[in-house]
Amino acid sequence: TQQPVLRRFWYPVVPMSELSFDRPYAIKLLGEHLVLWLDADGQPAAALDRCCHRSAQLSKGSIVNGCVQCPYHGWQFDRHGTCVGVPQLEPYQAIPASYRIPAYQCTPRYGYAWVCLDDRPLQPIPTIPEAEDPNLRFIHQFYERWNCSGLRIMENSFDNAHFSFVHYASFGDQHQPRPASLQVSSVDHGLTVKTVVDVVNPPLQQKNLRLAEATTVRTMHSNWYLPFIRTLKITYPNGVMHMLFTAATPIDDRSSQVLQFCVRNDTEADASTEDIIAFDRQVTLEDRAVLETTDYDAPLDTSVEQHMASDRVGIMMRHRLTALLKEHGEVEIRRSGAM
Ligand code: FES
Ligand code: FE
Repeated sequence: TQQPVLRRFWYPVVPMSELSFDRPYAIKLLGEHLVLWLDADGQPAAALDRCCHRSAQLSKGSIVNGCVQCPYHGWQFDRHGTCVGVPQLEPYQAIPASYRIPAYQCTPRYGYAWVCLDDRPLQPIPTIPEAEDPNLRFIHQFYERWNCSGLRIMENSFDNAHFSFVHYASFGDQHQPRPASLQVSSVDHGLTVKTVVDVVNPPLQQKNLRLAEATTVRTMHSNWYLPFIRTLKITYPNGVMHMLFTAATPIDDRSSQVLQFCVRNDTEADASTEDIIAFDRQVTLEDRAVLETTDYDAPLDTSVEQHMASDRVGIMMRHRLTALLKEHGEVEIRRSGAM
C-alpha cells in the first residue's frame, strides 16, 4: 500500500455472486476501504466506503434504485460517486455539486468484480481465452484472506524447488528435491514460463485425471501478470488440461485476498467438481501454511534474502517490480526496521 503505482492495476476483488441489488458489500483494496454494489443495470460499482456528509460507512447502508444509500441520513450516491438523492432537501432545491465521493472503475470479468483505483490503468484486465471458451468448464475454487504478501504467493507458483517439501503429501516427490529447469521470458504483462515436472500422482488425482499411474508428468505453461496474478496451464500425458487462475489481491500490507478458479477440458462425468476442488484445495492449503509464516514485507532488494538458482523467476519478478517503481519515480518502501 506504500507504493502508489500499485493503484494503477486491475484487481479481482469479489465474486459477482456475493453482490446483490439490496445489500452493499465492504472490501479493502490496497488499504482503501471500498463499498461495492450492483447498479440498476446489474453492473458492479465501487466507491470509497465513506460518506462525504459525516463520514458514515456506506457499506452499512442499502441500495436504492442502483445507488448506494448512506445509513446515517440517507444520501444516495450513483456509480460515479455523484450524490443523486438527499431526502432532507425540498424537491425544488438542487443538490450541491460538492456532494460527491471518490468512485472507481469497476467491471465484471470471469465471474468476479474487478476494480482499478486509478483511472489510468497501466495494463488491461488479463485476457484468458480459456476462461471464456464455452467448450471448457469453469470451476470457481475459493476466495479467502491469506496473511501474506502477493509477491510471496506469486513467486511460490513459479518455484519448482518447494514441491518435495511443501507438497510431499500431495504431488511432490520427497526423494527428488532437485528442481526441474524452466524457460522464462519477459513479456509486456510480466513473465511467461515453461517447464516440465515429474510428479507423484496420488489416488485422488488418478481419479481426477483418469491416469492410473503412480507418477506422471506435468507440462506447465504459466504467466505472471504484474503485479499479483498468475495463470498455470498444466497438460498431462493423456491430454487432460487443468488451468488455474490465481490472484493475490492486496488488501493491506499484511494480507491478500486469494481467489482461484480453474478451467478444464474434460467433463463432470470424467472428474467431479468436488474432487477437482478437493485436490487443488489440499495443494493450496499446503502452500498457505508455509507462506503465512513468511515476512509479509517481501523485499525487492535482492541483497536482503539469500537465493538459489531455481529462484530465477522470483528474482526476475523483483527486478520487474523494481523497474516499475523506478519508471514511476518511486523507490521501494520497507516497513520500518525491516532493512
Ligand atoms: Fe451520510 Fe449523513 S453521514 S448522509
Ligand atoms: Fe506450491
